[in-house]
Amino acid sequence: AGTITFTIIKPGAVKNEHIGPILDKISDAGFHIAAMKMVQLSRSEARSFYCIHKDKPFFEDLVEFMVSGPIVAAILQKENAVDDFRKLIGNTDPTKAEPGTIRHMFAKSVQANAVHGSDSDENAQKESEYFFAGYEKFFEVKKT
Ligand code: CMP
Repeated sequence: AGTITFTIIKPGAVKNEHIGPILDKISDAGFHIAAMKMVQLSRSEARSFYCIHKDKPFFEDLVEFMVSGPIVAAILQKENAVDDFRKLIGNTDPTKAEPGTIRHMFAKSVQANAVHGSDSDENAQKESEYFFAGYEKFFEVKKT
């Protein structure tokens, strides 16, 4: 039950064997994993996923980083999912992330910041649909 957010465990965190510890933090924080898969993005997929940043100076570097290895994409379900997940991951810049947050624990830099989290309900929907078909989503249904 509740709302959704979308996350990516980024290539650096996957390479450093942080998938398990990051999923533990996500489960401990009360999120239901409604969809999940490990994939290698192509450059065109990474570009279209991050197209809102296409005019930023860091865009090409970000795309290269995101295709540098496999990623784990997931849809997470919880009450207040977008905001609660952003609190759990911490600031985009790991030097500014609070102790105990996923980025404080696992991020190496602003670019290699361990995880992505949606910034709004609308983007959570768009990003989820970009990665997952209907038959790949398993939402928790509130029991009556
Ligand atoms: P994410 O939440 O995935 O959304 C966009 C990403 O762009 C962000 O995390 C960072 O990894 C990256 N990013 C944002 N700002 C910068 C920056 N100033 N320099 C390099 N990368 C950045």
